[in-house]
Amino acid sequence: MDQSALKKVAAERAVDFVEDGMTLGLGTGSTVFFLVEAIARRVREEHLHITGVSTSSRTETQAKELGIPMIGIDDTDHIDLTIDGADEIDRHFQGIKGGGAAHTLEKMVATTSAQNIWIVDSSKLVDTLGAFPLPTEVIPFGHTQVERRLAAEGLNPVWRRNDAGELVTTHNGNYVLDLHVGKIAHPHLLAQFLDAQTGILEHGLFLDIVNKVVVGTESGAEVLN
Ligand code: 5RP
Repeated sequence: MDQSALKKVAAERAVDFVEDGMTLGLGTGSTVFFLVEAIARRVREEHLHITGVSTSSRTETQAKELGIPMIGIDDTDHIDLTIDGADEIDRHFQGIKGGGAAHTLEKMVATTSAQNIWIVDSSKLVDTLGAFPLPTEVIPFGHTQVERRLAAEGLNPVWRRNDAGELVTTHNGNYVLDLHVGKIAHPHLLAQFLDAQTGILEHGLFLDIVNKVVVGTESGAEVLN
């Protein structure tokens, strides 16, 4: 199976955790694409009443087109469950997100949610975080100063650019600075440092957030608790 097929295996298993009446956070990315399709199928066939809260315009558009009722995050006082993809996850369920530049909105939805499930193909499981460059969202004003500060700390920052060579901008109009840090031995310490940096709106370390991981493997979906 290719990576895309493994993502679909994980997404289609995770939909079993969706219950009637839930307010559901919907993440972003190619794995979530399969999830949204699977949820829409259940809404259609089982007449489930689901209300979705999205983390990006991509997911929002797909969900609405497939008939899933959507509300904004500020229109609810609770989210029962959020299901999202990830770029890396370790055995302690600490992870990196932001490969799709949506990590600020994703973290907002995840931290509002009572439960969080991540859906990944098996290549995303790692012993130590950091092979995937850690995304940070940086406000335009003074962004070069932020870059210099992080470079001085040895965090190897690289601005994310599109195929045309232009700086990638987030939903919030900010830039994405990817940190090529190699192995992250102490994720909490790095998160604390990044949280303290003026100019960084949010980073892609998601720590102590995930309750369950559904992994797509060659032999089917594996649920890790
Ligand atoms: C977007 C994300 C995605 O969830 C992450 O990049 C995984 O994406 P995919 O499911 O396409 O592999 O964090 O900001």
